[in-house]
Amino acid sequence: MDTYLIKIGGSVITDITMQKAAKPETIIKIFNELKPHLKNVRMVVGHGSGSFAHVPAHKYKVNQGISVSSTEGASITQDAAAQLHRIVIGCAVSTGVNPLSFAPSSGALSNDGKIAVWDLSPMIKALELGFLPITYGDVVLDKSKGFSIASTEEVFRHIAKTIKPKKIIIGTDVGGIFDSDPKVNKDAKLIKEVNPENVNEILNYAGSSTKIDVTGGMKTKLEYLYNMSKQTGAVCQIVDLTITGNLKKVILGGNIGTLITAFG
Ligand SMILES: Nc1ncnc2c1ncn2[C@@H]1O[C@H](COP(=O)(O)OP(=O)(O)O)[C@@H](O)[C@H]1O
Ligand SMILES: [Mg+2]
Repeated sequence: MDTYLIKIGGSVITDITMQKAAKPETIIKIFNELKPHLKNVRMVVGHGSGSFAHVPAHKYKVNQGISVSSTEGASITQDAAAQLHRIVIGCAVSTGVNPLSFAPSSGALSNDGKIAVWDLSPMIKALELGFLPITYGDVVLDKSKGFSIASTEEVFRHIAKTIKPKKIIIGTDVGGIFDSDPKVNKDAKLIKEVNPENVNEILNYAGSSTKIDVTGGMKTKLEYLYNMSKQTGAVCQIVDLTITGNLKKVILGGNIGTLITAFG
């Protein structure tokens, strides 16, 4: 059976204009859309932090580690991420997808912001038993910085190395990568495909987030996805998960959003 990694962006499942404002109806809708496909595809879900952890992470500069931030800031940020995570898990349970929670802060150790150690054998066992593992962007302890933030994309980079997914689906609040930020420019044009020929050019178009986002926005996403595709052979696809039906389409192989492949 193929395995897919599916990210649900923080900008999809929270209201970014208000602090700690989750959107449970949206979260439930997404798990209901995903559920029928669990018989044919193994999935690992990861979600972002939106209006939960990005706010304290930014305030306490958690990503800069112990020399700049404080242990208090790291604790508050871990708690904010976990609060949204419990809401996501609760919604997932209510739809019957049999989720099992995997918190990076409890098992991962990074080195200068990159996860260096995280034993995934429990996650693999959970997949074998038919659970839906759900992880998220989190605070992680760090060998050199004391602690840092692991974005969902960084968490996926580590998981992809071991699990070798066929597809990595990144759900966000825009329809893919555009030739300029579509939240700023209404006339921005969608880029359907990123490949070895055009990746450097497209990296110039992709920018940061228009919202508070300590882990980088679209440019960082593209860098991560291109490298993951190169290292694991996965096909990556960025799609708008604020639109009902898109998750089903992309799981079924629909050509929507932006497709990223680092091989010929
Ligand atoms: N060229 C671009 N194409 C698409 N989105 C872009 C681009 N440049 C910047 N962005 C911004 O990236 C945002 C998505 O990243 P982010 O806010 O981190 O979402 P998520 O919460 O899903 O991680 C979009 O809402 C958009 O404002
Ligand atoms: Mg983000």
